[in-house]
Amino acid sequence: MLELDKIYNMDCIEAMKQLEENSIDLIIADPPYNMGIDDWDKIDEYEKFSIDWLREAIRVLKPNKALWIFSNQHNVTTLNFILSKMDLVKFRSWIIWNKGTGIPNPNNFTNHHEQILYYIKQPNATILSEFGKYLKDRRTKLNYSLREISKLCDEKWYYRGGHLYFETGLSKPNPDQYNKLKEVLELDDRFDIWFNNGFVFHLEDVGIKWIHDKDKRNKRGWKNCGDIWNITQLSGNFKERVEHPTQKPLELIERIVKVSSNNEDIILDLFSGTGTTSLVCKKHGRHYMGFELEEEWYNVSLQRLHKQSERLDNWLET
Ligand SMILES: C[S@@+](CC[C@H](N)C(=O)[O-])C[C@H]1O[C@@H](n2cnc3c(N)ncnc32)[C@H](O)[C@@H]1O
Repeated sequence: MLELDKIYNMDCIEAMKQLEENSIDLIIADPPYNMGIDDWDKIDEYEKFSIDWLREAIRVLKPNKALWIFSNQHNVTTLNFILSKMDLVKFRSWIIWNKGTGIPNPNNFTNHHEQILYYIKQPNATILSEFGKYLKDRRTKLNYSLREISKLCDEKWYYRGGHLYFETGLSKPNPDQYNKLKEVLELDDRFDIWFNNGFVFHLEDVGIKWIHDKDKRNKRGWKNCGDIWNITQLSGNFKERVEHPTQKPLELIERIVKVSSNNEDIILDLFSGTGTTSLVCKKHGRHYMGFELEEEWYNVSLQRLHKQSERLDNWLET
C-alpha cells in the first residue's frame, strides 16, 4: 500500500490505480510536453497517454477538488479538448505563466510564457440524473408537490422554479440547498460527497499586497493576482535550481498549493521530476505523494527533500 509523504520511483498511472476513488484533495500534474526536450519527453501516443493519466487522476480526486495541469503552446489545446470531452471536470482558469526570459528565436516570436490549466471535479450528467431520480422518488413518497418542496426549501428559489431543475438533472444544488433537501426529504448520505463537499479557493492567501495606502477604494489590503502570473523561470544561478530541464519554481507551485488546499490535505505530485510540489507541501503542512518514473530524478528529489527542506524558509518568503 502506498504511504503518504513519500515520493515513489514509479509510473504515475500504475501508482494511481492503487489509490481509492475520491480520496485526494488536490492534484498538480506537470506531464511531459512531448517535444523531445529529454528522453522522457517523447511519447508515442500522446493523446492516449493523456487520456490514461487524466482518467485515473479524476477518479482518485475528491469531488469539488482541484486539478492543475502544466502545459505549453504545443499541447494545451489537446489537453483542454480531452478534458472537455470527458465531462468530469469543470474548467476554471487558463493561467498564463509569464516566465520572463525566453530562448531567442530569429524565425518566430520569442516564447515567454506557458499555460497552466485549472479544473474542478464536478458531478457529470449521469450523476445529476441519478440524483434527480432519487429526489423525485423521495418527494413523491412523502407526498409533496413540486411547488411545496421548492417553497419549503428556499423562498427565492421557489420563484426560480428551483426543484424542477434538480429533479431533471439540469442543475445542482449548492451545499445549503442540498442540506435543506436532505432534511426535508430525509435523504440518505449517498450523494454527500458530490454536493456537501467544500470548494477550496483561498484567493486572499495568494493576493498581491496593495501598496497604495492612500487609495481608500481597496480596504482589503490585497488584490486579486489575476490569471497572468509573472514569476521568473529558474536559471542556473538560482539557489533552488538543480539540472532538470523543466524544473518549476517553488514560488509558482506554492501559489497553487495555497489557493487550492488546506492544512493536512493530501496532494498528488504527478510527474514529480525534482519533487518541487512535494517540497512545497512539506513546507505548508500538506501531505503529499509524488511519482517519478526516471530513477535519476527520483534520487534528486529525495536529496532535495532530505537536504534542503530545512532551508525552505529562505527560499520562499511568506
Ligand atoms: C515536466 S517534468 C516535471 C518537472 C517537475 N515539475 C519539477 O519541478 O521538477 C516531467 C517529469 O515526468 C517524468 N515522467 C514521465 N512520464 C512519467 C510517468 N508515466 N510517471 C511518472 N513520471 C513520469 C519525467 O521523467 C519528468 O521528470
